[in-house]
Amino acid sequence: VPEKETKKNNALRSIFQEGDMALLIDRKDRRNLITLKSGGAFHSHAGILPHDDLIGQPAGLWARTSHGQRLLAVKPTLSDFVLEMPRRTQVVYPKDMGAILLLGDIFPGARVLEAGLGSGALTAALLWGVGTEGSVVSYEVRPEQVEGGIANVKRIFPDAENLEVKVGDVYQGIEERDLDRIVLDVPEPWHVVPWAAQALVPGGIFLSFLPTTLQIHQLGKALREDGRFHMVETVEIILRSWHVSQRSVRPDHRMVAHTGFITTARLCTLRSSQVPDETQPQEETR
Ligand SMILES: C[S@@+](CC[C@H](N)C(=O)[O-])C[C@H]1O[C@@H](n2cnc3c(N)ncnc32)[C@H](O)[C@@H]1O
Repeated sequence: VPEKETKKNNALRSIFQEGDMALLIDRKDRRNLITLKSGGAFHSHAGILPHDDLIGQPAGLWARTSHGQRLLAVKPTLSDFVLEMPRRTQVVYPKDMGAILLLGDIFPGARVLEAGLGSGALTAALLWGVGTEGSVVSYEVRPEQVEGGIANVKRIFPDAENLEVKVGDVYQGIEERDLDRIVLDVPEPWHVVPWAAQALVPGGIFLSFLPTTLQIHQLGKALREDGRFHMVETVEIILRSWHVSQRSVRPDHRMVAHTGFITTARLCTLRSSQVPDETQPQEETR
């Protein structure tokens, strides 16, 4: 890209344009996500805000409604978007998304298979990780879920040509081969273990997000019994936000106490039974 064009794009990035999303925040920290359309208007108890008051203005401005109330208008981050977007399923929260991207090593250029699409929150994070060089295939068993899920993803990645959504049951098999990563947000991922072993590249990473301990126990058993997966690890991300003001610094009173567990495993060349005894890791029973 010529230097001049890059500079122009960088400058435009911070200016609201038609089709951009804007996050509007009122004095009580109530948030609304809108998509800017010339001639459109945002209506709320705070009054009316014409979209044209934002289009062409720099992000981060304080706009004034017809009732004279101030609204802060910023461009939503991926995390803002996920918290505000329409949901028809349980979604993966930003605190887990960040860890999924790094523990699953979702690198720019990776070929990733995901299931299920659901509301598309995790799909958007995966597209973020793989960038334009990589690709994401998402299996979703419920056809009625697909339109809403894709619509959410398209709001944040309007030109996502590297996303393919397939209506299908990931428990029945995976058509793709040479996948770098498999990321599952389905209730019974142990059915996918044998398919994942065929579909991943050697050294590929299998990642599963599950809400209960019974599920992670069953998944761990399936991965161990298959034998081709090693480095099986499970973590839980606990996030505690803090209230910081002039006169008080303390944890917030409320927090999301539990979402789910992230289990990762690496596809290796030998089954556990083929690994010479002296190199076998000993299983802890404590
Ligand atoms: C918890 S939601 C996924 C939410 C999604 N990760 C997000 O962040 O928006 C689980 C989704 O998996 C789908 N699903 C369940 N079992 C499946 C299967 N065997 N194959 C494909 N999709 C499946 C469900 O229909 C549902 O849409």
